[in-house]
Amino acid sequence: MTNNSERRLPGGGYHIVADPAVFAATAAAFIGRKIATLIEHRDASIALSGGTTPGPVYAALAADPDLDWNKIDVYFADERIVPYDDPASNYRLVRETLLDSVQIPEGRVHPMPVEALELETAAEAYAETLPDRLDIIVLGLGTDGHTASLFPHSSALKSEQRVAVVEAPIEPRRRMTITPSVIAAAHLIVVLAQGASKTAALEQCLSDVRGVEDCPARLVRGGIWILGRDTVEGLAVRP
Ligand code: 6PG
Repeated sequence: MTNNSERRLPGGGYHIVADPAVFAATAAAFIGRKIATLIEHRDASIALSGGTTPGPVYAALAADPDLDWNKIDVYFADERIVPYDDPASNYRLVRETLLDSVQIPEGRVHPMPVEALELETAAEAYAETLPDRLDIIVLGLGTDGHTASLFPHSSALKSEQRVAVVEAPIEPRRRMTITPSVIAAAHLIVVLAQGASKTAALEQCLSDVRGVEDCPARLVRGGIWILGRDTVEGLAVRP
């Protein structure tokens, strides 16, 4: 899958993509193959994150000829509490990079209800629409070790809800996010991280010095990580 060998993480695995020019295509090929295998037998459900890393991956995924988007439900791992057409909106990112380029029924697209007046009630309603177990959740890694919009020391890390409204320490501050129970139930977690700016967070995530409170991405150590070589190169302890 990549020009580097696959290695194992505790319970998961990771692929190092040596050439940044093929990171998006490599990640999209991996995710696309997982989805294609699922939809051979049944409909699939995926939840997508925002940020800068996944956009090119979603664009490459949109070009995957093996994916029948009539059989795929697209949910969101988190969302900023901004209008859907706001440049900071994850929905807008996914719409522009993926949804507008594939034939997907509108009923298969499930944006988080961030334009609702009662956000807490809307979050609970969204949680009801989520499958008990999502097939694939695509997550990123923040430089502070957050993933989705689960930030260090956030009360959402202990939430009984499956979807929470949170206050992030970075702009946009108000967000809606899936919580650890949704992540734990997923069949497959794919974490995308590239760039040297993520090395420290990855180090924290891999070491046993810090817990989930300090580094929420430790929740997904058991996932499949697709890492840029520049993220891994500076690691004190290579995975
Ligand atoms: C968001 C994302 C967030 C993201 C990380 C990494 O809404 O911002 O869901 O969790 O995955 O912040 O973002 P980058 O890919 O931009 O580094």
